[in-house]
Amino acid sequence: MAEPTIEDYLIEQRSFPPPDGFVAKALVRDRSLYDEAERDFEAFWARQARELVTWFDDFGPTLAWDLPFAKWFVGGKLNVSYNCLDRHLEAGRGDKVAYYWEGEPGDTRTITYAELHGEVCCFANVLKSLGVQRGDRVAIYMPMIPELVVAMLACARIGAPHSVIFGGFSPDSIVDRVNDGEAKVIVTADGGWRRGKVAPLKPNVDAAVDQTPCVEHVIVVRRGENDVTMVAGRDHWYHELMDGASGDCPPAHMDSEDLLYLLYTSGTTAKPKGIMHTTGGYLTQVAFTHKYVFDLHPDDDTYWCAADIGWVTGHSYIVYGPLANGATSVIYEGTPDTPGRDRLWEIVEKYRVTQLYTAPTAIRTFMKWGEQEPQKHDLSSLRLLGTVGEPINPEAWMWYHEHIGGTRCPIVDTWWQTETGSQLVSPLPGVIATKPGSATIPLPGVFGEVVDDEGNTVEKGGGYWTLTKPWPAMLRGIYGDPERYKETYWSRFPGRYFAGDGAKIDDDGYIWFLGRVDDVMNVSGHRISTTEVESALVDHHAVAEAAVVGASDPVTGQAIVGYVILRGSVEQTPELVEEIRQHVATKIGPTARPKAVLVVPDLPKTRSGKIMRRLLRDVVEDRDLGDTTTLADASVVDEIRTRAVEAPQED
Ligand code: WTA
Repeated sequence: MAEPTIEDYLIEQRSFPPPDGFVAKALVRDRSLYDEAERDFEAFWARQARELVTWFDDFGPTLAWDLPFAKWFVGGKLNVSYNCLDRHLEAGRGDKVAYYWEGEPGDTRTITYAELHGEVCCFANVLKSLGVQRGDRVAIYMPMIPELVVAMLACARIGAPHSVIFGGFSPDSIVDRVNDGEAKVIVTADGGWRRGKVAPLKPNVDAAVDQTPCVEHVIVVRRGENDVTMVAGRDHWYHELMDGASGDCPPAHMDSEDLLYLLYTSGTTAKPKGIMHTTGGYLTQVAFTHKYVFDLHPDDDTYWCAADIGWVTGHSYIVYGPLANGATSVIYEGTPDTPGRDRLWEIVEKYRVTQLYTAPTAIRTFMKWGEQEPQKHDLSSLRLLGTVGEPINPEAWMWYHEHIGGTRCPIVDTWWQTETGSQLVSPLPGVIATKPGSATIPLPGVFGEVVDDEGNTVEKGGGYWTLTKPWPAMLRGIYGDPERYKETYWSRFPGRYFAGDGAKIDDDGYIWFLGRVDDVMNVSGHRISTTEVESALVDHHAVAEAAVVGASDPVTGQAIVGYVILRGSVEQTPELVEEIRQHVATKIGPTARPKAVLVVPDLPKTRSGKIMRRLLRDVVEDRDLGDTTTLADASVVDEIRTRAVEAPQED
């Protein structure tokens, strides 16, 4: 018999049916959407596209599929900014609040749909006046301020694809992305507030622009009030350009398959990939998922996705999904610990937030800070919680459920990727019982399977997560590199999309994501997922966060090394460390017991909060660190290096 692709250790028995109080008002309470999509998935998506999106010209065929190249809603004409703004005004909802914006220092802005529309039209005219035409790319490098949303929608209005570059990236990252996309204009700000200080942005653009010959103009929003140098003829203040701009800008009639945006995924090694998202399919599926996964009641809800707009989560679930659905959202500029570690809970209480969407890494940080922080605030307005970005450890799920959700809120664990554009695996909260740590089952209209090394379907147990049918919001390619697109996503298993995640499937057909398959460890021939060992570590009452890597070992091939962060006030002792190691053995079996457990103050993470296991592997194996430019805080690695040297290797 073949070796299992990834073994199955962690057994999680808890299950939570949708709470009665929630189901009573839920948009979806039965399986009819699943059944409809199962019967005819193209007809299903065509119906969603016509219900959720307003088209200037209806589409013909729903799907043209020439594997791996998809066209959705063929021939349809629409405009994304029209769908996000104008049609709400036409329906008499111009006075509805689109965003409650909260600056880090405590300044606030309330922006209605009518105001947002006005600002977007003016800025679209500004872009045109600087020579931006339909099809030209515009780079956006900004803090989390309303003008970021304005810039994105203005691009969409005139058919100029945007390329948002996360505001924490360095000048080098700007250079790569701007040049790859050949952006004509960069929209930026002087700086933005982060952790009590102004983080400068314009100086990074200045450093980059020397090496980006394609850039003709830089537009600068005043936010941080930090000193900046303006180059005459090239650099312009946003407020000065807006001053004279007309508010009349009809939306361009775009083809369903016109490029809406590029978003670069860093990948851990090679050159960043410019992921291409187009118009009709993307908007349909983000509107669909935003409505049904978050059970959106636009008249009653105040929805908050606490991600950064520079990440795909922000594109789809702060900007396009919520605005297409006419939702009222919160945007927060700064960090969750400024001025205190209860800032998020203060915001939830202040705006009476009903749905909160955040990442497991944030939840584990809140666990580390302790439940006294959320307890300072009234969180009773919350009725649904969401997570995205990584597998959530069952104990972190339970903490979120109890201390944030007050045990009454369903949790939607949403699996997706920059490439997928929208959520693909997640419960519909009024229908599907949840299990802590499982993203449950594919959403209606999404079809996937776990397969083994040979591509055979795995009915139960671990393997590779693949998608078997195209979906409307799927990436249309890697900008300028169709071969790399085929090779990266479609070559490992013929006819299937595979983008690197391991998963296991349980008796009920539930999917449990197991992290990136590159991180799977091989210990004496057992293929063990880092996710499961991490979850067993976090299951120990003293542990808030854990990262596990397989370090080369002469005897076992790889040996498991666990890095842990302890909860708030817990003291580190050798006994505790040993107890934590044993806990893994008890919880999931002796094969998975870490050879060493190292207590660390912090873990190396990317800006979007994903643990960089590769760096941790390099540290234990004492290799030179490769590229660390995507690391959120580089000093963390030095700290950990010191600990790794001090810590005794056991067994
Ligand atoms: C991981 C973020 C488990 C996964 C939207 C994926 C998850 C990668 C989950 C994409 C989840 C995201 N459970 N793993 N709910 N959500 N991932 O492109 O490894 O930043 O491939 O998109 O994050 O990360 P990206």
